[in-house]
Amino acid sequence: MTSLSEINLMAPETLECPFGAYKVLQDEAPVYNVPETNMYVVTRYDLVMEAVRNTKVFSSAMSQNGSSTGGIMGYPEVVELFEKEGYPFASTLISADPPEHTRYRQLVNRAFTAGRVRKMQAYIQQIVDELIDGFIDDGEVEFMADFAIMLPIYIIADQLGVPRANAAKFKAWSDAAIPIGLDIGAEAELERAKLVVEFQKYFVERIEEVRDNPRDDIISDLVHAEVDGERPLDIPELLSIIQQLLVAGNETTTNAFGAGLVLLMENPDQLALLKQGDDKMMRTFCEEILRLEAPVQGLFRVTTCDTELGGYAIPEGSMVNLRWGAANRDENVFDAPEKLDVCRKNAGAQIGYGVGVHFCVGAQLAREELFLGFKTLLSRLDNIRLTDPSAPLEHHPNFLLRGLKTLPLKFDKAEQAQAAE
Ligand code: HEM
Repeated sequence: MTSLSEINLMAPETLECPFGAYKVLQDEAPVYNVPETNMYVVTRYDLVMEAVRNTKVFSSAMSQNGSSTGGIMGYPEVVELFEKEGYPFASTLISADPPEHTRYRQLVNRAFTAGRVRKMQAYIQQIVDELIDGFIDDGEVEFMADFAIMLPIYIIADQLGVPRANAAKFKAWSDAAIPIGLDIGAEAELERAKLVVEFQKYFVERIEEVRDNPRDDIISDLVHAEVDGERPLDIPELLSIIQQLLVAGNETTTNAFGAGLVLLMENPDQLALLKQGDDKMMRTFCEEILRLEAPVQGLFRVTTCDTELGGYAIPEGSMVNLRWGAANRDENVFDAPEKLDVCRKNAGAQIGYGVGVHFCVGAQLAREELFLGFKTLLSRLDNIRLTDPSAPLEHHPNFLLRGLKTLPLKFDKAEQAQAAE
């Protein structure tokens, strides 16, 4: 096993599989100061919970610096592009602290309540079925491209009231706005920024369209909402919220689907249990995916004063990376944490959707997409297997998000599905 001195969380092999490193950190340095940086990585469940609940000291405002502006390096050519052609960035939701955060949050909470998501079940089911119809006769599929990416993007496009025909563009905009947490260089940052500016221009047009002609969709609701009953949201605030809805729900849900299928292929005993069709077990499985393979492995907070966490001193202005992906495998909370268990009693204690005031706005929606998606996939497909078992699966090299690049699969049509034709 790797020793503490050998750990490099940004190394390609660690980004590919960070779980061994997490275990070492939990045992030896649960609040780990990355050498020669002001970054602290928190891996123990209780300490992540403690930090996330203390929003005064562990602030989300400023924590997303560079996610869609100049990159983590603040490249001047990127900053200039936004000044000349784009719109300034407003800190809303994920990059705001209470009380500002509370005002924005109230406006979006209504969009995806459990009740509203329950009413969306038949609609989600229809998209799931249509996507599977699209490949079921082929006996093979590139699962990420043809299912995992398309389902969340169609759903968020519909919810925002923009045509599904633009799905490919949305995906490009969404990818461009995603924080990577690594320095990718000025040229790549500029390419990213151009796409973000394109996104801004597109949605400013949509915003202006609904100003005089309100519609029954989220953009229209936001444009006509009033912050604290006093003033409408301005363009940068609207763009910030729309961008978060677009981005936060796409890559994450996509990656949960990819990870879930791999977990099933690796655990035939658990797959067999799920095939029995028990909905409760299926819901537990959806939590287990988030626990074992958190699509958001970690996010930043910035300390507003000198503080301590678990006995470790953290100076003011430090970047504190809360590792949901590590906390979810903390053996103090989860028995045999590395094991997929579709009957796990406390699977719901996983924190892959975050905790506290920033708890994921779309968690109910994502849970429903995963539940209906996997339930339908398992009822319609049998013998799901890798197209080429000798080809290693690869994840995107990203310090914050975890997801497969591709997942080419073969399968048989389930007998039940054949009989229904
Ligand atoms: C499996 C899928 C998803 C995962 C793993 C996930 C994960 C997360 C996490 C960890 C946070 C907490 C951020 C923090 O504490 O700083 C969060 C917040 C958020 N999520 Fe999700 N999310 C998912 C799906 C969605 C969907 C479908 C949407 C929208 C339709 C969405 C919208 C948001 C928004 C807007 C926030 C910011 C909330 C705030 O700061 O108050 N997410 N998500």
